[in-house]
Amino acid sequence: MRTSSTSTTPSGTAGTPSSAAATPSRPSTAPPGPATGASGTSFRARLAALLAGVATVGALITAGATTAHAADTPLRDLAAAKGKVMGTAVTGSKLTGTYGDIAGREFNWLTPGNAMKWGSVEPTQGSFDWAEADQIVNFAEAHGQEVRGHTLVWHSQNPDWLANGSWTPAQLGTLMQNHINTEVGRYEGRVAAWDVVNEPFNEDGTYRPTLWYDGLGADYIASALTWARAADPAAKLYINDYNVEGVNAKSTALYNLVKSLKERGVPIDGVGLQAHLIVGQVPSTLQQNIQRFADLGVDVAITELDIRMQLPSDSAKLTQQAADYKAVMSACLAVTRCTGVTVWGFTDSDSWIPDTFPGQGAATPYDENYAPKPAYRAIVEALGGTTTEPPTGACTAAYSVTSQWNTGFTGQVRIACSGAALSSWRASWNFGAGQRITQAWNGTCAQTGATVTCSNASYNGTVPDGGSVTFGFNGSWSGSNPVPTVTLA
Ligand code: G3I
Repeated sequence: MRTSSTSTTPSGTAGTPSSAAATPSRPSTAPPGPATGASGTSFRARLAALLAGVATVGALITAGATTAHAADTPLRDLAAAKGKVMGTAVTGSKLTGTYGDIAGREFNWLTPGNAMKWGSVEPTQGSFDWAEADQIVNFAEAHGQEVRGHTLVWHSQNPDWLANGSWTPAQLGTLMQNHINTEVGRYEGRVAAWDVVNEPFNEDGTYRPTLWYDGLGADYIASALTWARAADPAAKLYINDYNVEGVNAKSTALYNLVKSLKERGVPIDGVGLQAHLIVGQVPSTLQQNIQRFADLGVDVAITELDIRMQLPSDSAKLTQQAADYKAVMSACLAVTRCTGVTVWGFTDSDSWIPDTFPGQGAATPYDENYAPKPAYRAIVEALGGTTTEPPTGACTAAYSVTSQWNTGFTGQVRIACSGAALSSWRASWNFGAGQRITQAWNGTCAQTGATVTCSNASYNGTVPDGGSVTFGFNGSWSGSNPVPTVTLA
């Protein structure tokens, strides 16, 4: 029996952006992959799979808890039962550990957040890098998921050689056609829908001046769609934009464009409403707007849903955010041709918001430690599922692996209290596969056999109602690195 002790060391659009979703015509019928989890799994087991162990401690109080629990049925299964899809944007390099588990279990559509953009796949003219895009497509196939290709023709995230080049209209047309042929052709039959053209409009409904519009005129859009159809006749082709969720000048311009494309016989299957929203500001005309596009004979997908707030988050903001997520889900559920909803990152640790809107964030359904938020529960409820209510007045501990390599890993445990408080804490768990803690910070950890016990440092024993404390550790593993259930005392 070995015991290791470690010392304590401190550690450390809705005005938008400068677009993803799905079509019911290719429902995710493949069985969930290995990481997908069975619908009938018990709450406890699923929570463990979520890398969260929960324990109720002392102090029983009244306030409403702000931590949602994982549903017994994954979002993807709830959505499928309603004829909808549930997607998320992902970062390829993160598709392991907890991030990979949740991405594989809860969603049936994936959108590469950046990996399929022109700047990612052809950084140097004629020299291609498909590594991350391939990784995401392979992951999706292994987990019975569809892929939304994002995005082929955009004004942003183009490679420097393209953006800074001086091109004749004929050259631009050839570049665009070759790009579409190459990328759509590469994934023919493997990418179910493409955001062919992204963000073509200004807020007032005029066309955005871009490399493409300036060089080729408004018909660059029809050309792109036509070339995409030729490259993969089965893929659903979308135009995707932001601030087009409600009825307004921009969405009306998009509506008129789609109407005209349909009348001309240009291939267009759907519109993507990005939905980068702000807490408390879901457009009241969202469902009406979805319906008017559907009435044109195209699908509608909510492609990049996130709902940001001014930080720090608090119970009131998270409750409002949950209502907002529910409102968006309900609007899509109410319109047959709304194919489903994709969130733009499922965890606050993988969201573009804090970088782009300093001081804002907490925009996704899971917090940065992969704990499901009230927004997650709201999605479940909108999809007709149920979640187990968290115990009233509880402190909980959530274990997560934050990174993992050959033989080592970094993990953390977040202790959060809602309706309860702690003046000191001790967290313990049993490693199931021989893992060993080698170093810890913001807590003192000791391991005896498989049992690890960590207690607070001198400065972080207090966890107030509504507050949290996180401690971290490095460890070694081999074979597998399963997530233990943490007990708080
Ligand atoms: O990859 C580099 C990395 O090597 C470098 O260290 C780091 C330093 O900042 O930058 C990394 O690139 C960043 C990239 O995301 C990958 O993380 C870029 O700076 C950053 O600008 C880029 O942001 C992306 C943004 O599009 C660019 O406009 C976001 O991740 C991505 O979520 C966001 O997605 C867009 C949709 O495509 C279209 N709709 C709006 C949505 C939000 O802006």
